[in-house]
Amino acid sequence: MTIAAYSITTGAIATEAARVAADPSEFDVSRVLTLDELELGPLGPLDVRLRILAVSAEHNIDHAATADTINIAEARGGRMFPGNSATGEVLAVGDEVTRFSVGDIVITHCNGGPDAFGYPQRIWAYDAPDSVGWYAKEAVVGEWQLIAAPLDCGLTLWEIAALPLRAPTAYHLWRRALGIYRLKVPYERQARLNVLGFGGGVSELFLQLARSEGHRAFYCAGSATRRAELEAGGIETIDQTVFNRFHERADVKAFSEECKARTDGVLMHAVCDMLRGPVFGAGLAVAARQGVNVSAGWQLSQVVEYNSTLMSVKQITIDHAHYETVQGAEAATALYGQVFRPTVHDEVYAWEDLPRAHQEMHQNTQTGIPIIRVADELPATVAAIS
Ligand SMILES: NC(=O)c1ccc[n+]([C@@H]2O[C@H](COP(=O)([O-])OP(=O)(O)OC[C@H]3O[C@@H](n4cnc5c(N)ncnc54)[C@H](OP(=O)(O)O)[C@@H]3O)[C@@H](O)[C@H]2O)c1
Repeated sequence: MTIAAYSITTGAIATEAARVAADPSEFDVSRVLTLDELELGPLGPLDVRLRILAVSAEHNIDHAATADTINIAEARGGRMFPGNSATGEVLAVGDEVTRFSVGDIVITHCNGGPDAFGYPQRIWAYDAPDSVGWYAKEAVVGEWQLIAAPLDCGLTLWEIAALPLRAPTAYHLWRRALGIYRLKVPYERQARLNVLGFGGGVSELFLQLARSEGHRAFYCAGSATRRAELEAGGIETIDQTVFNRFHERADVKAFSEECKARTDGVLMHAVCDMLRGPVFGAGLAVAARQGVNVSAGWQLSQVVEYNSTLMSVKQITIDHAHYETVQGAEAATALYGQVFRPTVHDEVYAWEDLPRAHQEMHQNTQTGIPIIRVADELPATVAAIS
């Protein structure tokens, strides 16, 4: 069976790179994401066939379309089908599927092949071999890749669709940050932590978790709309543009002074970076003694540099994460609506506008997590929340 799906090809990347050779900042991701056709695999005994209802735009697609980390489309043989966060309706189940039935609403996770401890060695629809993504009208996936969508959690369908990739990432980063900090400083010495996150969907969820556990949470971002949303949820905010996005040393110093003033000189016990580049240095500059810096992203730079002596003296831990275990992704889903209340961009994009959604994400003009409605008709089970 052939269905409509978006693809990224090395040819499309090369054509766009050649078009903007004089000014690579003009690179248009929407010219690379192309509506294509995909032959769905057969339904095996442990497989589930899905109708995709909604997906979120994710930065790994931007990395793939711009080939800025590695040229992953090339590594995948010249063409890949992206999309590793989806909400769908079950259309059919294989003979041995026990957890789902026809009509169920499900979400995906993107763990593309767990190691011996459950952590992903590969990410689905990115570097997992033969993995086919969900920017498609339908999909066939293994039962193990699905989680029941918590339809009664209080979120809308679009808010639920914002979370399958970002919530497990935030959940994992928070339990690492807290676990590492607690290895060094027990509760009775420091019950309430100062927790900082830099702009973006993962960071806002990370801070919502910290806040829900009674900690002080600070969101440092450029978007005024997003800051206002977070403030309404009890998260303190810092306007990153006031500090010129940390381009100069003086900007970092001023940011450090601001954080000192806000925390009685203590600074931040946990920092969620996700961007690297200038944000990394700023995050380290405001780390409290025994602080922890966590990240699962490298949007602004893959390479970081730090003063090891200084970090040792302050006993700072710099931690790198990739993605949650399958069990962790399930656990994170239990917090939808209770803790995780994502900021969703005000336009829900149409299927035809999926490339534009990614270009606007690339240009950083959105006010929240971008959602694309894939299905024309929504099932009655989600009518009340869409
Ligand atoms: N490993 C994983 O599991 C995983 C999961 C999700 C994401 N990631 C990675 O983590 C990164 C962030 O992902 P996300 O989903 O949280 O992002 P997101 O929701 O798309 O947000 C990215 C944020 O970056 C900020 N930003 C953009 N350009 C900036 C610049 N030049 N300087 C400073 N800040 C800038 C923007 O906030 P303001 O403009 O408001 O400051 C924007 O909201 C991406 O690289 C993504 O690939 C990894």
